[in-house]
Amino acid sequence: MAVVDKPFSQACENNKQPILSVLAPRFATRRHVLEIGTGTGQHAVYFAAAMPHLTWQTSDLPENHEGIQACLADYFGSNLKRPLALDAAQSPWPIEHTDAVFTSNTFHIMPWEAVLSLLDGCARILPPGGLLVVYGPFNEQGEFTSDSNAEFDQWLKTQAPHRGIRNRQTVAEEAGQRGLELTETLELPANNRCLVFVRQ
Ligand SMILES: C[S@@+](CC[C@H](N)C(=O)[O-])C[C@H]1O[C@@H](n2cnc3c(N)ncnc32)[C@H](O)[C@@H]1O
Repeated sequence: MAVVDKPFSQACENNKQPILSVLAPRFATRRHVLEIGTGTGQHAVYFAAAMPHLTWQTSDLPENHEGIQACLADYFGSNLKRPLALDAAQSPWPIEHTDAVFTSNTFHIMPWEAVLSLLDGCARILPPGGLLVVYGPFNEQGEFTSDSNAEFDQWLKTQAPHRGIRNRQTVAEEAGQRGLELTETLELPANNRCLVFVRQ
């Protein structure tokens, strides 16, 4: 059998502890978390190990599953689930209920229409009081929060024109229209934020 190299992201290594400090108290009473856009799987392994009371369900587009599975293969606990094929832009999703959703560095990658579909999907599968936590860079009132984010946005657009850093207030407005209220905005290192939404 071919051995698949584990994908690796230095950014994940750098941001996993600050993100965990946001998730741990907020997920303390939750049981099931869906991660959308799992990517390398590094966050999933780290968060599942640090919060063993949770079942951590990974998901991503099918092209990333092999790498995620290679990463998950080193995990010895039973609370980390193999990736679901979940394209946020497609409906229905392969999961109908969860207590919480986590997604990291996806809003600036997927097209804006997919971001809206992701919000639709979260509103569908979260119960009242359910949480959506989104990590990544966001603009404030349409302005970049740093020169490095402005450069990053330019680079994203050279990769694909539909990519780009989203405006936090616009995301909050769209989420609110779907019954997801932005209750907390937390500043994290490297000009990133965690947005916490509660299903009304
Ligand atoms: C920049 S990576 C972030 C990966 C990881 N969450 C992290 O923080 O390192 C963006 C992720 O979003 C996923 N993605 C892009 N479009 C998607 C979509 N329509 N539905 C679900 N995931 C998507 C990609 O496959 C990729 O895993």
